[in-house]
Amino acid sequence: MEQKTIAVLTSGGDAPGMNAAVRAVVRSGINRGMRVFGVYRGYNGLLNGDIQEMNLRSVSEIIGNGGTMLYTARSEEFKKKEAQERAAEFCRSQGISGVVVIGGDGSFRGARALTNAGINCIGVPGTIDNDIACSEYTVGFDTAMNTAIQMVDRIRDTAQSHDRCSIVEVMGRRCGDIALQTGIATGATAILVPEVEYNIERDVISRIINTQKTGKKHFVIVVAEGVGGVEDLAKYIEHRLGIEARATVLGHVQRGGSPTLRDRVVASQMGYEAVSLLDRGIGNRVVVMRDGKITNLDINEALDMERVFDKHLYKIAMSISI
Ligand code: ADP
Ligand code: F6P
Repeated sequence: MEQKTIAVLTSGGDAPGMNAAVRAVVRSGINRGMRVFGVYRGYNGLLNGDIQEMNLRSVSEIIGNGGTMLYTARSEEFKKKEAQERAAEFCRSQGISGVVVIGGDGSFRGARALTNAGINCIGVPGTIDNDIACSEYTVGFDTAMNTAIQMVDRIRDTAQSHDRCSIVEVMGRRCGDIALQTGIATGATAILVPEVEYNIERDVISRIINTQKTGKKHFVIVVAEGVGGVEDLAKYIEHRLGIEARATVLGHVQRGGSPTLRDRVVASQMGYEAVSLLDRGIGNRVVVMRDGKITNLDINEALDMERVFDKHLYKIAMSISI
């Protein structure tokens, strides 16, 4: 029987745990008797012929590293049909019959396009944002939040020492999951997310005043990137309540660092699942976590799903940070 050849790439924003997923794809592919190529810089690697055959040792000592050893990119060119055809042709020229795409839902649209051009693709959710509707979990989310809580805990030390209010913006694009969980874990007095309509007087000012009445003197407010405006909010709090306020945008610190146990394990499970699908000649699927289990879904079905924000968890946060 002819030896199957597959490839793996990382696309979109990097996320801690992507390396663990790459390692799982390479090792489980080779273990099944396949040849496995690493593609550099997302879809650009397929357009520029920038690939390298991997062996078992190519992915040694990467499981604990942040970033992605394959580099990543946002390729505008790949959005064009002509480029997708060219990438598929390149894959065929190398004998590559399947590609594992580790990235967010933009990358999955690319995977669908490449499958339509004749190369089986499997998506693996890799983004710190946890914003992929079809999966309860995306690789990188846990590490990003653990970094965020460490940073917010430090910010609290100084806010507490000065009796200040600290307003911290965390990442997440249009998704409030990092803000919600980080806010709970750091005891934020208020949490603003794009999924829940807010009113500054009711959801920030009144909450601060109420906690002041029971003796609280410093405050942490966590704001999702999709809400933004932390500098203005700091000025408003100073003006409205006479409390010194400082704004911090955590930024890309949340994207780096050694992946947590959860990200390493989930990435390994998802990478393994992706290869087992390609081994069966199956493409156009996304590996997902549903009810805590790793499974897979049709890519079209997955991309059509709408994200559900955990309103109950938000309610819990609001009823205990008082
Ligand atoms: P993410 O994968 O994190 O959501 P992006 O939305 O930036 O990140 O998408 C990553 C890359 O996926 C894009 O730069 C592009 O190469 C590819 N991509 C995104 N949308 C499409 C599309 N509709 N068709 C083909 N490729 C796409
Ligand atoms: O998708 C991951 C993410 O870090 C988002 O949280 C953020 O909105 C965006 O990427 C930042 O993108 P860039 O790397 O282009 O600054």
